[in-house]
Amino acid sequence: MPFLALRVPTHQGEEPVIEAYPDFQAGHVLDLGCGPADIPIRLLRALPTCRVTAVDASEPMIRLATEAVKAAGLSDKISLRCERFQALSLDEPADATISNSLAHHIPNPLQFWYRLKQLTKPGGGVLVMDLLRPESPEAARAIVDQYAANESPILQRDYYNSLLAAFTEDEIAAHLAELNFSRLVIDVVDDRHWVVMGRVY
Ligand SMILES: C[S@@+](CC[C@H](N)C(=O)[O-])C[C@H]1O[C@@H](n2cnc3c(N)ncnc32)[C@H](O)[C@@H]1O
Repeated sequence: MPFLALRVPTHQGEEPVIEAYPDFQAGHVLDLGCGPADIPIRLLRALPTCRVTAVDASEPMIRLATEAVKAAGLSDKISLRCERFQALSLDEPADATISNSLAHHIPNPLQFWYRLKQLTKPGGGVLVMDLLRPESPEAARAIVDQYAANESPILQRDYYNSLLAAFTEDEIAAHLAELNFSRLVIDVVDDRHWVVMGRVY
């Protein structure tokens, strides 16, 4: 059973699947920037013996997440917290930390990785995914046209802006190096996403 089989919510049904940490069966997983809790719910369905702390700074998002978690019958397994990850404190560090599509929202990326290390126990697994910044605004426009052509104008604009706010592979690699994360590696998994995987010590 995979630790994570994340079907990443994207546009036009494009949902890359990522599997990692096949030895991880149970434990406390922290999701930073959980949004409507789609990923925690999928994770719990795959690994029912886990529990998840799912954190999001947006109250409306946490309200949506609360409804979704309740509808999934997982209220006892998923603890939702409306907090900024910057100020989050846990009773004890998580066994593993995940985060999808949060990094491009963050003005200080080093703070994100630093907090991720603080919130994850030594040796804990990490799986972080986000958009990859295209080489030019024209390339970003081409990605929007390719993957979000049928979305509403507001969603298309949001996707375009998110692509331009995202980090490059070299930038993320530099952030990891600056914090001496020798056991985390970045991989570019398709034309618009990167993934960082590994363990924090
Ligand atoms: C693009 S959504 C991704 C949601 C979810 N991870 C997913 O893949 O479906 C990014 C989320 O990060 C949240 N967010 C932004 N800044 C945050 C912060 N400083 N701390 C916690 N959550 C934050 C936003 O409210 C939003 O719900």
